[in-house]
Amino acid sequence: MRAPRLGVNIDHIATLRNVRGVDYPCPIKGALVCQRAGADGITLHLREDRRHIKDADVYAMKQAIDIPMNLEMALTDEMLAIACDVRPKWVCLVPEKRQEVTTEGGLDVINNDKLPDFIKKLQNAGIKVSLFIDPDTAQIERAMELGADAIEIHTGAYAQSCLANDPVQIAFELERVKKGVMFALSKNPTFLVNAGHGLTADNVAPIAQINGIYELNIGHGIIADSVFMGLDKAVRNMKQAFGI
Ligand code: PXP
Repeated sequence: MRAPRLGVNIDHIATLRNVRGVDYPCPIKGALVCQRAGADGITLHLREDRRHIKDADVYAMKQAIDIPMNLEMALTDEMLAIACDVRPKWVCLVPEKRQEVTTEGGLDVINNDKLPDFIKKLQNAGIKVSLFIDPDTAQIERAMELGADAIEIHTGAYAQSCLANDPVQIAFELERVKKGVMFALSKNPTFLVNAGHGLTADNVAPIAQINGIYELNIGHGIIADSVFMGLDKAVRNMKQAFGI
């Protein structure tokens, strides 16, 4: 079995920086440590409220790293303009609510008039588009119909069930993610299926071992581990925790 790629989300290095309004710790420096430690990509989320990543980080990151950059963003004209200017390898479109602590659920790609045009404009700028959706077959089917280059399955419900230590719910949520991956690959075996949200070194193995997942995007769990073990080790540790 091929291990999934690891995309490291470095938003929370910027969170730590911003609470003091200073210029350290630097998310770019962090991304370079992740790259050296074997990260296969760097993910960063430019939120409308700029609570962690700032516009300048996005531009600087593009110049600094050699591995693919995945820019997470909401469907707004402002973000579209920034993405088309920066031209990251990937954009992952996510839903965004001002008050949420983190991205709470997947994007509803069925009831969204803006999406077709948005996807086309990003792809015309040479950017590959991923859609962050729940493991729901109707959403997956629609994402594929819309011509997305990949989907990212939201693993938040799985992660929550792990936190609650509820074996029945864990098995249920894991099965939902597995079925989602299998459904997408049964429709198109070369389609790229990513997953992420709430994954930690403790809960990642069953997700990493789902056959056919292309990439896992993991942030908070790695940055949290890095407080105790250092960022280089936290990235290596996460890859090891895949268990493949
Ligand atoms: N994938 C997407 C689309 C996200 O929005 C996030 C959070 O920004 C992540 C992955 C990473 O989630 P976590 O920080 O919980 O690992």
